[in-house]
Amino acid sequence: MPEGTTILNAARQIGGDIVPPAMCYYSTLKGSGGKCRTCLVKVVKGSEKDPRPMPKLVASCQQTVMDGMEVANISSDEVLNARRYRCVHVANQR
Ligand code: FES
Repeated sequence: MPEGTTILNAARQIGGDIVPPAMCYYSTLKGSGGKCRTCLVKVVKGSEKDPRPMPKLVASCQQTVMDGMEVANISSDEVLNARRYRCVHVANQR
């Protein structure tokens, strides 16, 4: 992946059911994303250089990929529960 590619855009290039949902990020609109938190993922391995997991869930539309990074997306109950909560919260906003 080219440097600066976000986890969300990397997943979109791969395709399929691993693509996180996104409600506030539009690839053609500069500065979008980072607000709704529906695209949260868990980084279980930061990179080859620094394999420590990231301590909190991250917005995949903001976090860039690194060599050796491992991301739990559809396989993490923590991620799925956080997304569910965020989607309900966003839907209840007026
Ligand atoms: S799509 Fe809204 S925070 Fe990432």
